[in-house]
Amino acid sequence: MKQQLAEIKQRALEALAAAETPAALEALRVQFLGKKGELTAVLKQMGKLSPEERPAMGQLANAVRGDIEATLEARKAAVHAAALEARLAAEAIDVTIPGKPVSLGHQHPMNQVLQEILDIFVGMGYTVVDGPEVELADYNFTKLNIQPGHPSRDRSDTFYFTSDDSVLLRTQTSPMQIRTMETMQPPIRIVAPGRVYRKDEADATHSPMFHQIEGLVVDEGITMGDLKGALETLMKELYGQDAVMRFRPHHFPFTEPSCEMDMQCHKCRGAGQVDGQVCSTCHGEGWIELLGAGMVHPDVLSGCGIDPNRYSGFAFGMGLERMAMRRMQINDLRLIFDNDVRFLSQF
Ligand code: DAH
Repeated sequence: MKQQLAEIKQRALEALAAAETPAALEALRVQFLGKKGELTAVLKQMGKLSPEERPAMGQLANAVRGDIEATLEARKAAVHAAALEARLAAEAIDVTIPGKPVSLGHQHPMNQVLQEILDIFVGMGYTVVDGPEVELADYNFTKLNIQPGHPSRDRSDTFYFTSDDSVLLRTQTSPMQIRTMETMQPPIRIVAPGRVYRKDEADATHSPMFHQIEGLVVDEGITMGDLKGALETLMKELYGQDAVMRFRPHHFPFTEPSCEMDMQCHKCRGAGQVDGQVCSTCHGEGWIELLGAGMVHPDVLSGCGIDPNRYSGFAFGMGLERMAMRRMQINDLRLIFDNDVRFLSQF
């Protein structure tokens, strides 16, 4: 029996030392110390011993139980500590690891240029106004002195909604001149950016949808000099103080006199060629056409209820894509609309 107890103790201590989990330890407790466990089974044989042998054997059995219990408790504590250690290691956070960069988007290059242009006009006291893209032919054409039958009203150039050609997608932002003058009294100083639509095939310089910025100033004593001053201020702010521009006579039905403004080519500086080759930016012209402008036609003023004998005004309309291409050195209009991140992220 003594040997049995020694053998149980040895097996129990070895098994406990090897047990790695609380479940394994509990199984060993049941196996050795449980009511039907090995130690209990030995104690049940005590009755067979002589009364002299019993106390010593009882003591030994208690000592074995005590040893196994103490080892069990120690192992429990060790297993618990190891589990905690493992969890802490697994859940460890290294606060010194650099964060994963979140790539932020930014404004589209065309909107960046639009914002720059609007900021410049707001700085000169202009208000930014907005108007409908689906427009009445009256506003898009007639009230701008573009009478029925005029070639620019042709169905091959304009998207019409109705068979009587009275509703259309605006082909220019100039109807905003009319809408403004019908609702505001001079002094008027507005810019109106927005989308316009024409039946054009898309190529490097054309798109069926593009953007214009309309400008209108009406007050007493407004002259062509004010027009030139406003546009020169814009161009020099936008393209640098050394920007050179020129005004050429032109014709628009809603302005008189009318002009177009060109900007000296930034690549060849007006020479038309670079290193003996025709300049690829201006195609040898030396100048790049940027916008149409003029003094608001007296008939347009009076059509909107503004007395042309008291008031005068100037107006201009520029293509935003063209301004952005020049500002951002973009050589193909389609890139602006493709939304290719490889292109957009360069700005
Ligand atoms: N609306 C004209 C166009 O799309 C541009 C223009 C010319 C606007 C002269 C104006 C202007 O305000 O005065 O071609």
